[in-house]
Amino acid sequence: MNNLIEDAKNRLIVALDYSSMPDIEKLVEKLGESISIYKVGLESYLNTEGKVVDYLHQKKKKIFLDLKFHDITNTVKMACENAIRKNVFMFNIHCSNGSRTMSEVSELLKKHNSQSLLIGVTVLTNLDEKDINEIFKSTLNIEELVLNMATVAKKSNMSGIVCSPNESGIIKEKLGKDFITVCPGVRPKFTLDQNGKSGDDQNRIMTPYNAIKNGADFLVIGRPITKAENPLEAAKAILEEISEAL
Ligand code: C5P
Repeated sequence: MNNLIEDAKNRLIVALDYSSMPDIEKLVEKLGESISIYKVGLESYLNTEGKVVDYLHQKKKKIFLDLKFHDITNTVKMACENAIRKNVFMFNIHCSNGSRTMSEVSELLKKHNSQSLLIGVTVLTNLDEKDINEIFKSTLNIEELVLNMATVAKKSNMSGIVCSPNESGIIKEKLGKDFITVCPGVRPKFTLDQNGKSGDDQNRIMTPYNAIKNGADFLVIGRPITKAENPLEAAKAILEEISEAL
């Protein structure tokens, strides 16, 4: 059982959506040894001027640097050189940078002998099909679009993608189990109302148990832990639920 909890720790990424070092330190201290991977996004990275990364290294935590680089090839590569130097566990760029940029960044990782996982952002979860049609004049539905972007990412030697846990099953089926899926939109049962809704902005949600069963490799979870009355208890309950699905 203990081994399963250790395995579960390697599947859970806590989103550090805070804007000050004291708030970040308070949560990381509270969660202690129970959490080993944290996601640093634009909010915490910019507000702390990158100090959050050094702090997490000091605390021997793994880092998912979620800065979602999207620009011309040369600029994305320069940003990625910096991410590689930060020696993070994983970082991401948009799949809509195209296959040339994705392939060149994959090569860059090899050149630097980097062990960081290179993850592609597919369709942002706040977009719906109406938005997609408006922006791209695309008639593909979201699942088809995500699968297509994931296919291009895999061909470009990316390690995996960010997607909803609803999509991880089809991604694994079509692209193989080694192609990594990193999934936000996860809500444990204890945060859902009677109708199974999360009461926040995440719509296409799955429980940690179902997400793992549907093939998700990593679960990115923020508010169910960060806003919990007792974050450590919430994190432990989620680890328990993940371990039941392993
Ligand atoms: O609080 P919550 O569990 O919704 O946090 C999920 C985290 O994952 C947030 O940091 C959010 O920005 C991020 N995310 C997401 N959907 C994506 C990509 C990232 O919710 N497609």
